[in-house]
Amino acid sequence: MKHKIRSYVIQYGKRNWFAFSSLTFIMSVTLMTLSFAASPDEDLLKKAKQIFGPPLPEVISSGTNPLTPEKINLGKILFYETRISIDGTVNCARCHPFSLYGADGLRKAIGHDAQANPRNAPTVLNAAGQISEHLIGNRQDVEDQAKQSVLGPATFGMPSYDAVDKKLREIEGYPPLFQKAFPGDKDPITPDNATSQ
Ligand code: HEC
Repeated sequence: MKHKIRSYVIQYGKRNWFAFSSLTFIMSVTLMTLSFAASPDEDLLKKAKQIFGPPLPEVISSGTNPLTPEKINLGKILFYETRISIDGTVNCARCHPFSLYGADGLRKAIGHDAQANPRNAPTVLNAAGQISEHLIGNRQDVEDQAKQSVLGPATFGMPSYDAVDKKLREIEGYPPLFQKAFPGDKDPITPDNATSQ
């Protein structure tokens, strides 16, 4: 009996040791696999950085138009403003919806009164980092692009910048928002200010 108990204890102890060492083995194999799996990714990332350069900056700011929280706030509101279009239905978000990553996903972009543009709307995401705007590069930068878009015959269709400024001045909320975004300007509602956030 004594012998039996002893051998059981030994066996039990052995089994425990076996379970423990198998667990350690499985864990070390898993760790090894994980460390091996990470290295090709790191290599690829290194190679990509060599080819494409460093990742995009978090904020793409402009030397001539520094970003401020007030400008960003105003720009966000104007991006959804339909009252500065000739038929009252067009805003930037219509052709550059963030639900579709800033592009329209159409064959041709549709502006005021269902007018078709020559091309579709590409994404506005990271557009500020491009060397020029539009597929044919005929717009200097995003500010220039936004400004011309308001008078675009198949986009907002407004007849003049004066007409756009007049509309913005008439909307109660805008004068204080422009004042905050452009504190140094006496009369901050101008076409350049309206399209530079
Ligand atoms: C009716 C649809 C429409 C509206 C509204 C519109 N866009 Fe666009 N947008 C386009 C199309 C189409 C293009 C591409 C034109 C081209 O390449 O010929 C474009 C191009 C752009 C680009 C350049 C992207 C690139 O990669 O070159 C920017 C930036 C942009 N739009 C910003 C705006 C802003 C800001 C507004 C609001 C003020 C606006 N858009 C309103 C249709 C629209």
